[in-house]
Amino acid sequence: MKSLVIAAIAATGILMTGVASADEALAKKEGCLACHAVDKKKMGPGLKDISAKYKGKKDAEAAIVAKLKAGKDHPAVKSSDADLATLSKWILSL
Ligand code: HEC
Repeated sequence: MKSLVIAAIAATGILMTGVASADEALAKKEGCLACHAVDKKKMGPGLKDISAKYKGKKDAEAAIVAKLKAGKDHPAVKSSDADLATLSKWILSL
């Protein structure tokens, strides 16, 4: 039973060292963390600052997805819609 659980966790790929959550792992995989850090400014603003800016806004999640997909002000991202929705939710949860 124990080995089954470990195998299941490993299979979902969240057993990476130094990564706090599956969402953070996704952000890393999608390249977001090359320019963003959770609680400090890198090339882009800190994700917690972004979260604070969007929190309380109507349709915040959709607004972030739309902004990232437009690729106008923000550097182009190649993530799928589903991944962008997951990442937006994660950022808003920070
Ligand atoms: C090449 C560097 C780079 C990459 C890669 C990158 N970003 Fe950014 N991001 C920026 C910069 C610079 C800004 C500030 C300018 C702006 O708001 O567009 C920013 C701003 C943002 C904002 C705030 C937008 C706003 O309206 O204030 C969000 C949300 C965001 N990034 C999410 C992401 C996510 C999610 C990913 C991964 C899919 C990602 N970024 C990948 C550089 C990057």
